[in-house]
Amino acid sequence: MTGLLIAFEGGDASGKTTQARRISDLIGAFFTREPGGTEVGESLRDLLLDAQTPLAFRTEALLMAASRAQLVEEVIRPNLENGIHVVSDRFLASSLVYQGYATSLPVNDVRELSIFATNGLLPDLTVLIDVPVELSMQRRTDMPDRFESETTEFHEKVRRGYLALAESDLEKWVVIDGSGSLEQVSSLVDQAITGHLGLSLTSSSS
Ligand code: TMP
Repeated sequence: MTGLLIAFEGGDASGKTTQARRISDLIGAFFTREPGGTEVGESLRDLLLDAQTPLAFRTEALLMAASRAQLVEEVIRPNLENGIHVVSDRFLASSLVYQGYATSLPVNDVRELSIFATNGLLPDLTVLIDVPVELSMQRRTDMPDRFESETTEFHEKVRRGYLALAESDLEKWVVIDGSGSLEQVSSLVDQAITGHLGLSLTSSSS
C-alpha cells in the first residue's frame, strides 16, 4: 500500500507549519517542507528567501521547481512507495499562487512547470489554512524574507489565489479558518484529516 501525500498551504504566518508538524506527528508521517527538504533544496531555499539576492520571476519559478523535483525524487516518492505518509509544509500550490496568481507569470505555465518537476505527482489532500492578510501581518515577528517583504496587495493576491484553487477542486482541498485559537484551528484540521482521508489520529506515538 502506498502512503498518502498531504500538503499544508497558506500565506506567510498563517500557522500552517504548526498544523503540518502536529498532523505529521499524529499520523506517523514523514515531515518535509518546500522550498527545501533536501541538501540542494535547502541551498536553493537560502537563495530564494534572501531578500538581497535579485531574482527574475522566471528564475524564481525555476528554482522553486528545481527544489520540488529533487524533493519528490529523493524523499517523497521513496517514502510513499514504502507505505509511509508524507506531510509537506507547502507544495506545488505555493508556486501556482506566489509565482502565478500574485506575480505576472501565467498560472498555467507555472502549473506545467511544477507538474514536470513532480513527474505528475499531486497531493492526495491539500489543507489550506486561511487567515486574513491583516492578521497574518500582525503575527510576523522575524526579519522579513523575500516574500514577507512583499506588499499587502501581493499577499491579498496570494490569499485570493489559494481560495480560487481550493474552490476549483473541492475534492482534493479543504479550507480551514486559521483565525481562531490554536485549539480551535487544530480541531478543524483534525476533523478535515479524519473526514477526508479516513486516517486515525489516535495512533500517535507521542
Ligand atoms: P515558509 O516555508 O516559511 O512559508 O517560506 C517559504 C516562502 O517561499 C513563502 O513565503 C512562500 C514562498 N514559496 C514560493 O513563493 N513558491 C513556492 O513554490 C514555495 C514552495 C514557497
